[in-house]
Amino acid sequence: MESKVLVDDRGEKCIKHYSSSHKILLVGEGDFSFAARLAEAFGPASNMVATSLDLDCKVDANTMSHHPLLNVKAFDRIVFNCPHAGLNYFMLHQNVIKAFLKNARDMLTESGQIHVTHKTSYPYTMWEITKLAEEGGLQLVEEVPFTKWDYPAIKIKKHMGIKAIGHSLSENVVLSNLPMP
Ligand SMILES: C[S@@+](CC[C@H](N)C(=O)[O-])C[C@H]1O[C@@H](n2cnc3c(N)ncnc32)[C@H](O)[C@@H]1O
Repeated sequence: MESKVLVDDRGEKCIKHYSSSHKILLVGEGDFSFAARLAEAFGPASNMVATSLDLDCKVDANTMSHHPLLNVKAFDRIVFNCPHAGLNYFMLHQNVIKAFLKNARDMLTESGQIHVTHKTSYPYTMWEITKLAEEGGLQLVEEVPFTKWDYPAIKIKKHMGIKAIGHSLSENVVLSNLPMP
């Protein structure tokens, strides 16, 4: 069953843990179907910036906090779904994730969150995302199951012939700068 778009008493639209009032940065988008789903849910998605490494105006997770179009903004949610370095060597993936977390940390609002979606099975467990986050000074808020049914229209890009997100076994790691209560 697909996620519903909820409207709260202030008229803000919410889908899963994203709200139309959030300033959202999407990093490493594939075909922009995740961005399209959020935009469809929110109506005008003027608060959202969707980026890719694969376009002329590319945004690289290694340097994004200095990107001329992004360095003046602070975001409530910075999201990288299924980061993948291209070659199947886990330290390369870890390097992308570490760079993403370091840059994203500098781009958050005070109560902002960083979300990384990844598979929970081997070999993805070797990436140790929560450990990388803690080493980078971030706090784990929660780990939430993520399936493509949450965002029905999204098509997750394949790498090495493997679908990044299937019916299950994927989760969203939610991180923040704030100390845990
Ligand atoms: C498995 S695909 C996932 C694409 C999309 N996020 C999705 O969920 O369908 C991995 C993505 O990571 C991107 N990527 C790899 N290294 C990156 C980097 N340094 N900065 C930004 N994106 C990067 C690739 O361009 C690719 O689009």
